Amino acid sequence: MKVLCIAQQKGGVCKTTTALSLSAAWALGGRRVLMVDVDPQANLTRNILDYESLGSDISQIYAGKLHLADAVTPTGSKNLFLVPARTALNRVENLERSLSAYTTLRREIPKLGEDYDYVVLDTPPSLGLFTVSALLAATHVLVPVQPTFFCQEGLGDLNQTIVEARENNASLVSVRYFMTLFDKRTVISQELAGLLRARLGKSLFSAMIRKNIAVEESQYAQKTIFDYAPKSPGAEDYRILAKEVAAWLENAS
Ligand SMILES: Nc1ncnc2c1ncn2[C@@H]1O[C@H](COP(=O)(O)OP(=O)(O)O)[C@@H](O)[C@H]1O
Ligand SMILES: [Mg+2]
Repeated sequence: MKVLCIAQQKGGVCKTTTALSLSAAWALGGRRVLMVDVDPQANLTRNILDYESLGSDISQIYAGKLHLADAVTPTGSKNLFLVPARTALNRVENLERSLSAYTTLRREIPKLGEDYDYVVLDTPPSLGLFTVSALLAATHVLVPVQPTFFCQEGLGDLNQTIVEARENNASLVSVRYFMTLFDKRTVISQELAGLLRARLGKSLFSAMIRKNIAVEESQYAQKTIFDYAPKSPGAEDYRILAKEVAAWLENAS
């Protein structure tokens, strides 16, 4: 079972959109995919489930009251499942001080056995407990990078956190990046894309996600991009990225 953690401490760089879109693409292709919402903002959960009528959620797992498998919720799409989050996750008592919270996912995910081909972890815009606990459970880390003036600033801190996670997680085999919110009409986007390519080399996927309003609209419609606008540039880009990322998950080192 491959465990993909989508991480980047900047907000608004498409972590959640990517968690959902890659998972949906793989589920459509016949893979069994479990998404885990590890973000107290619960955006992934709201994108795909009715937030008002959730059952169990990830906060009970961090609190040690449930096993991960007990909170798996069907999404209405075939092969696609979610462990939802509630904003209550932020209030689980003493969580930051609980050492075992850091290893919750690392202990719980292997208990799923081979029920899923891919587990996809969506993380918050920070390098705190939730992101670290996801990195400690991951086999692969995928980092979205937006070609903006500040985009390279946070990558050093993120790298350092990943290096430390790796020292404590022998299963973490590989880290890759992809470019997102790319606007090919602007010179600055083109130039920064070149700089990123030079800095990241082969660890930057060649597939990139263009800015596309249909992606944003699909969230309001609470649908995946493939259900909402299957012919949109957003759907096209995510289909290509999903193929590239799956090949990496299957072969990577
Ligand atoms: N390809 C895209 N084109 C335009 N808007 C996008 C695209 N991908 C995501 N968005 C929008 O950008 C915002 C941030 O995306 P999100 O996935 O929530 O980021 P994060 O999880 O990193 O904070 C959302 O409003 C989303 O709808
Ligand atoms: Mg998010």
